[in-house]
Amino acid sequence: MLVDSHCHLDFPDFAAELDDVLLRARDAGVGLMLSIGTHASKAAGVLAIAERHPQVFATVGVHPHHVAEPAEEGVTVETLCALAAHPRVAGIGESGLDYFYDFAPRPAQEAAFRLHIAAARELGIPLVIHSRDADADMLRILRDEMAAGTFSALMHCFSSGRELAEGALELGLYLSASGVVTFKRNEDLRAIFRDAPLERLLVETDSPYLAPVPKRGKRNEPAYVAYTAAVLAEVKGISPEALARATTQNFLRLFSRIPASAVGGGGAA
Ligand code: NI
Repeated sequence: MLVDSHCHLDFPDFAAELDDVLLRARDAGVGLMLSIGTHASKAAGVLAIAERHPQVFATVGVHPHHVAEPAEEGVTVETLCALAAHPRVAGIGESGLDYFYDFAPRPAQEAAFRLHIAAARELGIPLVIHSRDADADMLRILRDEMAAGTFSALMHCFSSGRELAEGALELGLYLSASGVVTFKRNEDLRAIFRDAPLERLLVETDSPYLAPVPKRGKRNEPAYVAYTAAVLAEVKGISPEALARATTQNFLRLFSRIPASAVGGGGAA
């Protein structure tokens, strides 16, 4: 059984056929999905999906793209903690820094990121981190915040440089591989995953974005995490079964609010 540690099932891309998407995931051996929040103001939508489907859990948070939007600007640690009291919430995020798009001013991104870290630390649940073209600032903030009090976290869709990978691993963080590791020219990224400890690795789709080869360019969905897992198994020199076992164990160790019995939907229909 595989876990898709990062998907966006509440996005309109899936609205018309969510049940089919979940059936295809099941048929592909994906026993658990974590649907990631991007807006505090839209948390109810993600939570409703997790309430309806026993194999789906959720996170709550504000994506760095949206932190300066009027509906999200007032989010506090208390807002996040209140949302995370919901029984289907397993983590905080996604939060972090995106200097590729720079949709929100960088100081606002950093301030929001620190709020999310504070919430994750206070609740003792993991933070899902988004980081793009912000390696130096990301590492600076992670080191600074970890020194102020430990928290657990996952670098989602890891596609940054080796220094950030090694720094994050040193701080106890996990790295998640997305379809980006299947893209032909990303030899350096595959080498980072090859050298990282297997017990710190997860897999994800980030669907509806970033479909792995051979689905690249199409709308992504949780079933396709199997393609990414197959490439990661090859990179690690282990069987797809061993890779699935390890990444699922890692997921459950990190997202400790989720019982192992939830994998596969916990016997529910
Ligand atoms: Ni995402």
